[in-house]
Amino acid sequence: MPEIPVNQIRPGLNVRGTFALKAKKLLSFREAPGCFLAVTLGDRTGEVEGRLWEGAEEAGARLKAGDIVTVEALAVEYNRLVQLRIDSIVKENGQIDPARFIPFAKGLDKAKEKFHQLINSLTDPPLKSLFSLLFSEQNFYESFCLAPAAKQYHHALMGGLLLHSVSVAAAADGIAGNYPQANRDLLVAGAILHDIGKVQEYCCRGAVEQTDEGRLLGHIVSGALFLERYIEKVPGFPGELRLKLLHILISHHGRYEWQSPKRPKFLEAALLHQLDMLDTQVDMFSRAAASREDKDSPWTGWVKGLDRYIYCK
Ligand SMILES: [Fe+2]
Ligand SMILES: [Fe+2]
Repeated sequence: MPEIPVNQIRPGLNVRGTFALKAKKLLSFREAPGCFLAVTLGDRTGEVEGRLWEGAEEAGARLKAGDIVTVEALAVEYNRLVQLRIDSIVKENGQIDPARFIPFAKGLDKAKEKFHQLINSLTDPPLKSLFSLLFSEQNFYESFCLAPAAKQYHHALMGGLLLHSVSVAAAADGIAGNYPQANRDLLVAGAILHDIGKVQEYCCRGAVEQTDEGRLLGHIVSGALFLERYIEKVPGFPGELRLKLLHILISHHGRYEWQSPKRPKFLEAALLHQLDMLDTQVDMFSRAAASREDKDSPWTGWVKGLDRYIYCK
């Protein structure tokens, strides 16, 4: 039986497929003893609810959110929505291509092209050496290009980090023309590197997840440690430039309460914090507008990450 993407599942179809288990809950029957398992299953095309009526406790105990599961089920209609009546649900332990479950950001080829253009436009010799060392490592370059920039809200897609970093760097390049007192190379380099710790912070399987390193250190500390290792490998890298780059990384969230151990202490760091916020906001507003359920209304529903309704006319 060929696998059916979630957005093509219709009532009446027999479904056998591999999904990411997004959520599971053991719920009690209202009028009888015992319980059933309510699950949310997903792939990169969407999410679907499922119910397991028999053997729920046993299945609930052996599965956890984030697992990849193979499901056999019948699609039915419930409350005008498609739901899976599950016959079996089994955890998959083998190698999984995360691209099946997490969508790719759009425009990655263009972003890669812009990324190389921006890197090649750097004129400061130590920065040029640092970038060629960092990104000539094929493994790291590939991880950087595939990493998401978040678990949810902004750029939570494969390739989201590249898209966000290039977008901030392009904005930095533009704004540097307006403010000749800012060091353009430092600003662009800082923009490309500012979230580099996210390569270690997240991993992708059935969903974007935080790694142990991400949970224990976070991308600011991880990024600074990682960058420091590469700076040390560049012979004669200037001490002041090292401090400035590291400061840009650790201050880019701008405030102590937003996990920055230092607030921006020089112009380029202050600009980079603002550009980072700007790009995040553009992504959040655009995403909210594009994914609103009622396209006839100019208003979105409540947008959690922005804590407000958004007007899209
Ligand atoms: Fe960040
Ligand atoms: Fe960022």
